[in-house]
Amino acid sequence: MGRAERVVLAYSGGVDTTVCIPYLKNELGVKEVITLAADLGQGDELEPIRKKALSAGAAESLVVDATKEFVTDYAFPAIQANALYENRYPLSTALARPLIARLLVEAAEKYGADAVAHGCTGKGNDQVRFDVAIAALNPKLKVLAPAREWGMSRPEAIAYGEKFGLSFPVKKSSPYSIDRNLLGRSIEAGPLEDPWNEPLEEIYVMTKAIADTPDQPDYVEIGFEQGIPVSLGGQKLSPVELITQLNAAVGRHGIGRLDMIENRLVGIKSREIYETPALLVLIAAHRDLESLTLTADVTHYKRGIEQTYSELVYNGLWYSPLKAALDAFVTQTQTRVTGTVRLKLFKGSATVVGRKSANTLYSDALSTYGADDQFDHQAAEGFIYVWGLPTRVWAEKTRASS
Ligand code: ARG
Repeated sequence: MGRAERVVLAYSGGVDTTVCIPYLKNELGVKEVITLAADLGQGDELEPIRKKALSAGAAESLVVDATKEFVTDYAFPAIQANALYENRYPLSTALARPLIARLLVEAAEKYGADAVAHGCTGKGNDQVRFDVAIAALNPKLKVLAPAREWGMSRPEAIAYGEKFGLSFPVKKSSPYSIDRNLLGRSIEAGPLEDPWNEPLEEIYVMTKAIADTPDQPDYVEIGFEQGIPVSLGGQKLSPVELITQLNAAVGRHGIGRLDMIENRLVGIKSREIYETPALLVLIAAHRDLESLTLTADVTHYKRGIEQTYSELVYNGLWYSPLKAALDAFVTQTQTRVTGTVRLKLFKGSATVVGRKSANTLYSDALSTYGADDQFDHQAAEGFIYVWGLPTRVWAEKTRASS
């Protein structure tokens, strides 16, 4: 890997990334560790985290509020792409990684660091996302991943930190591994490792159990402009405010939970629980508005693009030439995806019950079965003759020869 003098470390304030500080300095010979904690709306208090890094030996402790960029530059394009990995997971964790990588690279360039570091282990997708994104943004920077090489268990990591005077307050220790940001939570490990075990209610924070949801439905109207959500109930909201309000509005109806066996890039299957209330509802609403405003061929072609897009994002290729090309396609399709979608929220389901758009391609005159029908029924006959011609020829030929 080669030695690094000054390193910018992605810092969360947790045990692993805190232990990374003395580890980088003492085992990997790094002179100066600069930590960077990114605020992506995870709800943590960042001032104590900033101080904690300094007391663990960081030369400089940076805190960057990137919540707005997270929503506008990462979540919104993914919504336009209806991005769902394996048709289910809306990539709430995966979308955060290229942004954190960008913040790390920017800080490394600003502070003249020759490497960046993260606390990912060797089993997950996040290491891939960080390493590849960093390479794409600045291929000269080294990437150090102490937790990928140190082979310490959690208690060993704590003992290692204690050797360097770090103390880790014994919180009620959770068996789960949790990642959180404004878009959602991912929960794995502990009892969830058995795919047969039903998740305990205690793991959920953003979504209510059905037993605790209101007995009356709520309706929410989501306004989109060019495929980007801009309003709730007719009220224009900032991107962060919109996600925050929608998370609360749908989470209280128990909407937004996922329990899936997921195929990681590194070849492992893992059992993942997600709660991503706003993001799932926004994708459902956006896809519905597309059904009203896009032509059939664009809609159908886009489905394939969406799947490739979701896999790219999941697999750490956010900054890649194919991703950029798909972005251009998606952006082009969104120019007329403007309108409003109405959803009913009730007992764990968000159901689209209405949609409208000034750009609607739905034509009453063509669709109606009523008296004012304008569709030329006679024209169907010739169309069907030509459309079915290859099948007719095939049938005649195969019958004749059998
Ligand atoms: N499997 C998800 C992904 O690859 C989430 C990973 C992070 N989750 C966690 N609990 N540490 O995007």
